[in-house]
Amino acid sequence: MKFRAIMGALCAAGLMCGVSAAQAAESVEVLHWWTSGGESKAVGVLKDDMTKQGYTWKDFAVAGGAGAAAMTALKTQVISGNAPSAAQIKGPLIQDWAAQGVLVPIDAAAGDWKKNLPPEIDKIMHADGHYVAAPFSVHRVNWLYINKAALDKAGGKAPTTWPEFFALADKMKAAGIQPIAMGGQPWQDLTLWEDVVLSQGAGFYKKALVDLDEKTLTSDQMVGVFDTVRKIQGYFDAGRTGRDWNLATAMVINGKAGMQFMGDWAKGEFANAGKKSGTDYVCAAVPGTEKSYTFNVDSFVFFQQKGQKSATPGQLALAKTIMSPDFQEQFSLNKGSIPVRLGVSMDKFDDCAKKSYADEQVAIKSGGYVPSLAHGMAQPDAAAGAISDVVTKFMNSQQDSKSAVAALAKAAKTK
Ligand code: BGC
Repeated sequence: MKFRAIMGALCAAGLMCGVSAAQAAESVEVLHWWTSGGESKAVGVLKDDMTKQGYTWKDFAVAGGAGAAAMTALKTQVISGNAPSAAQIKGPLIQDWAAQGVLVPIDAAAGDWKKNLPPEIDKIMHADGHYVAAPFSVHRVNWLYINKAALDKAGGKAPTTWPEFFALADKMKAAGIQPIAMGGQPWQDLTLWEDVVLSQGAGFYKKALVDLDEKTLTSDQMVGVFDTVRKIQGYFDAGRTGRDWNLATAMVINGKAGMQFMGDWAKGEFANAGKKSGTDYVCAAVPGTEKSYTFNVDSFVFFQQKGQKSATPGQLALAKTIMSPDFQEQFSLNKGSIPVRLGVSMDKFDDCAKKSYADEQVAIKSGGYVPSLAHGMAQPDAAAGAISDVVTKFMNSQQDSKSAVAALAKAAKTK
């Protein structure tokens, strides 16, 4: 009676309606790296949804963009027998974790997923014929964010080619504006570098970073990619060492810098700061990449709890909630992404998200839809890490482009 009375009161307060005692008792521990302003708001939507369903949310947030620190923490947890209920894992790493025999299938939550997911993404959520991961949203990586006042002051328009980009950067410099805000971690270097690879065409990108084709990796065109990156670096400020991505975004938000190369999680920061696309900032595809789309799909995998080979009610509820239409909409509105679930209305989204959606449809049809290397979608960890080392070494030394290319071809062979 007492329990019922408490539940009745909670339900009247809009919380925990119709939950069982078992649900109320289960706590779900969730490991993720969503700690910036926009990211926290987005994951907060999931926490609230789960709490309303009667689960206790145990937050295990490990700061650090792109998740390198979170992945280290996760390994430690799993090895010590304390795997979380769910963890933020994406791309080929999903299959790697599944192969360790530590995940649980979540098919019971995935009844209508197949017809509501693009086939290339549905495939990534599977291991051994079972769903083992739940997808959140689609981030486009190849974006350039521009402070609108800085753009106007430089008298420019959003650049569509590298010559236009450098002309704009020069104008900003002449107007006393720091042209580029750049952070200082390997994944941010790799994000910029893959943007420049993509600007050579989606075909070139695929041959280089998906097929790891040696001829492409060692081509003069690839030497040119490193040359362009070197030239872009000439517009960075001196303080980038160790800078987090969201602090670089804040520089563009506050008008301390003109532009940032970053995936559209940066848009979550603009939204969190109350800034509007078109008025306060402009989003443009990275020069030369208008018709292409580097995709980055976040997902959660679910770990065996206390040696149980099947998912707990909390894990299934988590998976189901992540793919529910309402959550998909609310999460992406805060995160800067677009829903991964097909058929979710884009009405409430801003122009940048609508552009992302429209460009995604075009890119899928034209073959311009490619997985992001910098965000764990294109290659297993070992090869991606070795390539990242090459790029970061180049960007933090005076190495010439030709020797960087030779190192790149070697790194691509890492298994
Ligand atoms: C993730 C995003 C995240 C970003 C910065 C990316 O790899 O996919 O969800 O916002 O890193 O942390």
